Order: sequence, then C-alpha cells, then structure tokens
Amino acid sequence: MTGKDRKRLFVKSYGCQMNAYDALRMADALAPEGYDETTVIEEADLVILNTCHIRERASEKIFSELGKVRDIKLVRAAAGQATMIAVAGCVAQAEGSEILRRQKAVDLVVGPQNYHRLPQLVAQARLKPGVVDTEFPAEDKFDHLAPAARARTRERGVTAFVTVQEGCDKFCTFCVVPFTRGSETSRPVAKIAGEVAALVDAGVREVTLLGQNVNAYHGQGANGAAQTLAQLIEHLARIEGLARIRYMTSHPNDMSEDLIALHADCAKLMPFLHLPVQSGSDRVLRAMNRRHTRQAYIDIIARVRAARPGIAVSSDFIVGFPGESDEDFAATLDLVRAVGFASTYSFKYSPRPGTAAASLATQVSEAVMRERLARLQELAEAQRQAWQRGFVGQNVDVLFERAGRMPGQMVGKTAHLLQVQADGPAALAGTLQRLRITAASTNSLHGTLLPNLPQTRTTEAAA
Ligand code: 5AD
Ligand code: SF4
Repeated sequence: MTGKDRKRLFVKSYGCQMNAYDALRMADALAPEGYDETTVIEEADLVILNTCHIRERASEKIFSELGKVRDIKLVRAAAGQATMIAVAGCVAQAEGSEILRRQKAVDLVVGPQNYHRLPQLVAQARLKPGVVDTEFPAEDKFDHLAPAARARTRERGVTAFVTVQEGCDKFCTFCVVPFTRGSETSRPVAKIAGEVAALVDAGVREVTLLGQNVNAYHGQGANGAAQTLAQLIEHLARIEGLARIRYMTSHPNDMSEDLIALHADCAKLMPFLHLPVQSGSDRVLRAMNRRHTRQAYIDIIARVRAARPGIAVSSDFIVGFPGESDEDFAATLDLVRAVGFASTYSFKYSPRPGTAAASLATQVSEAVMRERLARLQELAEAQRQAWQRGFVGQNVDVLFERAGRMPGQMVGKTAHLLQVQADGPAALAGTLQRLRITAASTNSLHGTLLPNLPQTRTTEAAA
C-alpha cells in the first residue's frame, strides 16, 4: 500500500487495563488495512471509542464524548473528508443498536469479542453505516490478532499488559462483567508465552497478566491439560530477560494454595496482590453473591502475608450497596483497619441494567453514599500514605521506565508498585537499579542510586 493510501486511526480507551490492551489489538488488526495511529482526533479517518460500562458515569460519559466526535465529523465533512465513528468495548456490548439510536453519527458498534473482525466490519460500515456486531463468536479473537501484535512490539516500553483470561462466571449481583465480557475463557499457555517472549525481545522487562478473574485461569498447557495461574507464571518466569511478573484482578475464592506458595518461591513474581473484597460486612457480601465471608478474606491475606512478608495488598470497595446499613459500613471501615491496605479503589454503588442488585428496592441515597465514600477514602488514603512513607530510608530495587518531568530525572517502580523518581541518565530506562529511598511525596517516592552495591533480584529485605 502506498503512503497516500494510508488512513489515520484514533482510539480512545476508557476503563480498565484490559481495554487498554484491547485498544492495541484493534490497532494491530487495522494496521494491515492501511490504518496508522494518530493522537490528533481531528485528522482521524476512523475514530474508535473503546468504552467502559462498569459504572453509570463511565457509560454516560460516552454519549457526551460521541457528541463531540460527531461535531468533528461534521467539520471534516464540510472539508470533503469522511470520518467513520466506531464504538467498541463494554458499552457497545451492553447497548448494541441502542447506541445508533442515541447518536446517529455512529457508523459501527463492535463488542469486545469481535475485534479480530474489525477489517470486515469497517469495510461493511463504509458501504452501509450502522453495523452492529455484539455476537459472542466461537473462535478465539486472540488467535487472529497475535501475529500482528508481534510485529508491533517494537513500539512498546519497559512494562506491558498481556490478557491471559477474559470474562467471568461469578455473577456478583452488582457487576456487568459477566454480561459484557461473557463467560470465562483462558488463552493457552503457549500463546501467552509466545507473546511474552516477543515482548521481552522488544525490550519489555515486566508483564502484568490480565483477566477479570485472572486467578481462575485454566488455560491449556503443552500436555493438553489445564494449567493454573501459578503454573503459567512459573512457565513465564523461565523466560530470560523477563524481570518481573504481576497479575490482576483476582477473586478471593480463587486464591489457590499453589498461587499463594508461588509468592514465596518465585523471585520474579512481584510482592503485590490486588484482591477486591467490596465490603467488610457478611450480610452485604452475601447480598453481593461474593460467596466468601469477611473472615475468609482476612484468612487469605494472612496466608499470603505468611508466604511473602511485606507483600502490598490492594482492594476494591463499593459503598452504598442496596440495603447497606450504618453497621454494615462500619464493618467495612473495620476491615480496612484490620487488613491495612497499600492502596484501594472505592466506588459509590451504581445500579447497572440487567444485574440482580439493580432492581432491589433498598437503594441507598446519594447523600449517604457520598458521606460513606469520603470516610472510607480518608481512612484508606491515610493507610496508603503511611505505607508509602514506610519505605523512606530503605533500599529497594527500581525498574526504570521513562524520563521524569524534570530534566535529568527518571521514573520507575518498586517491586511493591510504588512510583519512584531519581536523578539519573536516560540510559537507565529498562534497567533494574538499587536505590535508597530518601523522601515520600503524595504520589511517589524519591530516591538516589546506589551504584556500588550488588544487584539483588527482589526487594524482600526492604519490605
Ligand atoms: N457500582 C459500583 N462499583 C462497581 N464495581 C463494579 N461494579 C460496580 C457497580 N455496579 C467496582 C468493583 C469492582 C471494580 C472494578 O469496580 O469494586 O471490583
Ligand atoms: Fe464482576 Fe469480579 Fe464479581 Fe466477576 S468476580 S462478577 S468481574 S466483580
């Protein structure tokens, strides 16, 4: 294809890391069709909004965003340029043709399972706008996308995300994921290992294995038998040049013994666990269909901490789930105090269409939710700051990723996923260095390089 035939693609992703990963895959699928990515939306021939449906605000934002994209389309049309607008992601899956009804400028709606069909869908929409593809196909979307992905790995940085598992069968009563991402599927070990090896060849040193229920991973191994997440990580840890492995997001009930033990045994597996609990009240946990108790969660964390002392634990919380009383909420605050989190994400409950909890009559008022969220976030923020300050004066290993905002400054992450800034040359990018942490600011640590000390592979000693 000649230069002048090439077209511009603008992808904007909302929501989780899996969407960010999917956005790269979409660009991979469209590159052979002549699409080069641009960061300037006004020059794009194809605009894809890769949407998130997890909470109402995320969903509604898309429609105001689409209004703006329509205006750009009109301006370009006046100049004789065609613009195709596509909506992808979980809003596309959940709303389907309703999106076309609400915003007539949209040409194509495509659900997360069908990105490998983008070339055909775009061609179809060019002939006749208004294409909707939200089927759950039998074939594996990653099979089609992998070769192109490999070609693009050269553009990557030091860290990368790799989807290993998608979908969820748990049906927590607040959650749309089982509807938008479908039932649980795991990619085979060999496919993932191939992708990770290619990323490492391209300079990636750290991978985060992604899945909505990543610790329920059960992909096919070389011998044909299903492998656990722990077995997958052990396999990937053998890839030379790969320094760090992380995984998210996990469900407490899938925190298997082999995975917990791996936190003790595998130096490349980083001491960080994101394990959403959602609530500290057994009554609410039951109503949420989480299928574990508050005590079970506390016990899991104790076992994980026994395996890997000092491991950073993070979690998600929902406040104001229907029927949540003051007492229930107090139990959540109490759990936060009892566990001690390195970081947390907390949200006001948002009723999602089609989920069991949305129709409950006991919805909590906005004012109560706002007040509870503020109290929870104040407590959690104090814990986060204290956790971060605890590293001041310690020596830690930092994987440098990129230049900082100040000249001569570089930015990297500790094993516990804390951001560190330090003075140093650009050549530090992609290297693991031992640093002394000298200070903590609100969102990052500051450190100085310790050039003469031998390198160690873990920061266990610092925790
Ligand atoms: N309302 C509020 N928060 C939600 N989450 C998922 N669904 C909802 C909802 N309906 C939160 C959960 C989940 C995180 C990704 O988003 O805490 O772990
Ligand atoms: Fe949603 Fe996670 Fe529950 Fe699955 S386990 S339904 S993704 S909150």
